[in-house]
Amino acid sequence: MRTQVAIIGAGPSGLLLGALLAKAGVDAVILEAKTPDYVLGRIRAGVLEQVCVDLLDEVGVGARMHREGLVHGGFELAFGGSRHRIDMKTLTGGKQVMVYGQTEVTRDLMDDRAAKGLTTIYEAANVSLHDFDGGKPRVRYQKDGATHEIECDFIAGCDGFHGVSRASVPAGAIQTFERVYPFGWLGILADTPPVSHELIYVNHERGFALCSMRSKTRSRHYVQCSLDDKVENWSDDAFWDELRRRLDPEAAETLVTGPSIEKSIAPLRSFVAEPMRFGRLFLAGDAAHIVPPTGAKGLNLAATDVSYLGSAIAEYYRDKSSAGIDTYSQRCLRRIWRAERFSWWFTSLMHKFPETGAFGQKMQAAELDYLVSSTAASTAMAENYVGLPL
Ligand code: FAD
Ligand code: DHB
Repeated sequence: MRTQVAIIGAGPSGLLLGALLAKAGVDAVILEAKTPDYVLGRIRAGVLEQVCVDLLDEVGVGARMHREGLVHGGFELAFGGSRHRIDMKTLTGGKQVMVYGQTEVTRDLMDDRAAKGLTTIYEAANVSLHDFDGGKPRVRYQKDGATHEIECDFIAGCDGFHGVSRASVPAGAIQTFERVYPFGWLGILADTPPVSHELIYVNHERGFALCSMRSKTRSRHYVQCSLDDKVENWSDDAFWDELRRRLDPEAAETLVTGPSIEKSIAPLRSFVAEPMRFGRLFLAGDAAHIVPPTGAKGLNLAATDVSYLGSAIAEYYRDKSSAGIDTYSQRCLRRIWRAERFSWWFTSLMHKFPETGAFGQKMQAAELDYLVSSTAASTAMAENYVGLPL
């Protein structure tokens, strides 16, 4: 088989890149290791920046998001038993975010791809990347017992943190930067009404908590947990009790509990691989970088990477120019490091760090106090939360 761009991975990065390339008239094939149901079963991000909303609109898949998504103009920070609203909309001159789950974004992109007859090969096993340093890259994979090969001009590695793309780059050609945090997030999804109409980020002496949502009838909550915790050791009741303990009295009173639909533990990590281009191989999304989830930047960064990559590849075919391709890595990394900084800062502010002790807690309390009482500090936070400009 021959195509212009072989995309590895049908997560949000791969699917959105596929849609952007299709719109630009560039031929692409997506190879995905898992089944569509498996991809849709992963409950992950929930908050989309305006830039991400605009990209979904640009490729024509935004209709359901605008119908069902919830537009939020603020969020709350809870500490010391009370809540303080960060009015993003006022502080940023009108910018807001969209609460719409990654599962739904993925489903909309998958449905659109299927409706347009674009090729996605699911359950592609043992994907391997070849000759991306030369002019004729190839991708090999196995499906239904047979080995297949795709010849292409470019390979887009959109296969997440554990994918094959970054691992295919020779060790000497890539540099990585990493911080692993000494805790995880235990998350629960339930068909219960959200605690409040906006998100609540909680700093509590027992650890961080987040009250989020997927709709007006479906809530998504997280509590900071130990890295040794096992999800099977957390009954639904134990989760709700722990969450309630970390909430302010009014939120605790409002909390409606119910059976979980999904429950999982995610470790927290900051990670960046540099550069993001190796000859004719480009990394995008979680394949190149990870942020801790605090602030919901992961999916949004993935979307902006593929926006840069989609335009660079379109420009290559349309204008016979390599300018976009040559600056891809540099453009992405500037935005990535800023989001890494924000996610690291917000994580450091809100979680209980075993090693920093009572002094660390006093520093967090002083910073939170400053944050909610200074317009300059609130504005800086709001500006980052809604997403820095492209
Ligand atoms: P992925 O979504 O990881 O997609 C990569 C795809 O590649 C997958 O479908 C995978 O099956 C496929 N693949 C992997 N290896 C191969 C291979 N060898 N061959 C072919 N296909 C392959 N972000 C937030 O903003 N908020 C959150 O609350 C949040 N929670 C998260 C919880 C967890 C447990 C994780 C892991 C991430 C979370 N994120 C969150 C981050 C966000 O979900 C990611 O940033 C986003 O999914 C990145 O999309 P992606 O397409 O780059 O990678
Ligand atoms: C969600 C996750 C986040 O990390 C965040 O900052 C906000 C919302 C969520 O899953 O709903």
